[in-house]
Amino acid sequence: MSDLTADERAAREGVRRQKCEAVAKLYASAQDCTGCGLHRTRTRVVFGTGNAASPLMLIGEGPGANEDVQGEPFVGRAGKLLDECLFYAGMKREHIYLTNIIKCRAAIEEGGRVQNRPPTAEELDECVPRWLRNQMEIIQPLVICCIGAPAAKVVINSNFSIMRERGRFFECSYSSHAIAVLHPAFILRQEGAEYQRLRGLLIDDLKAAKERAIAARSEAPKTLF
Ligand code: URA
Repeated sequence: MSDLTADERAAREGVRRQKCEAVAKLYASAQDCTGCGLHRTRTRVVFGTGNAASPLMLIGEGPGANEDVQGEPFVGRAGKLLDECLFYAGMKREHIYLTNIIKCRAAIEEGGRVQNRPPTAEELDECVPRWLRNQMEIIQPLVICCIGAPAAKVVINSNFSIMRERGRFFECSYSSHAIAVLHPAFILRQEGAEYQRLRGLLIDDLKAAKERAIAARSEAPKTLF
């Protein structure tokens, strides 16, 4: 930021304001969404948080019980682990924009307990074009980081294999640089050395995403004029 001219700084501030206002408008319209059946069981729409002008957008699967109550992504145990790994990768939530592929909790009742379930193809077909795609269009992230396989399958490639392809960069229709990382909820199900190993991979992959965002920011624009 310090080597920018005053004009460049003013232009960047204008873009920042525009993006924040546009995302806030979209957020407001999402509050009444009845696009799929999940609106009947949700407590709150979990739209996204963080810096709408960030070059780095993180995308998880969908809200769980805590997120449904608080209206914010990643506020439960998985969110604590994500925050910890972001910290070791040199980032805080205010440096990034954080959202999910689906904005309302998908759950199922089994044996008297309400459990999270993956969103159905129909729910994704309603939700992604309305909200996630518009979020990406406004924010135009230089780097997208998918948290877990479901997000990578929606954003990068429907055949994405998280175990084989995490930590590598791909081009996708929403960004020239997209990477997928292990989901912290998956890491929390591991124990001992395996838990430590996977936590280390998450930190390394988040660091790679951050470094790519910094590099992409200083890339010359690929237009002639
Ligand atoms: N897991 C997700 O993928 N998203 C959240 O918001 C919380 C947990």
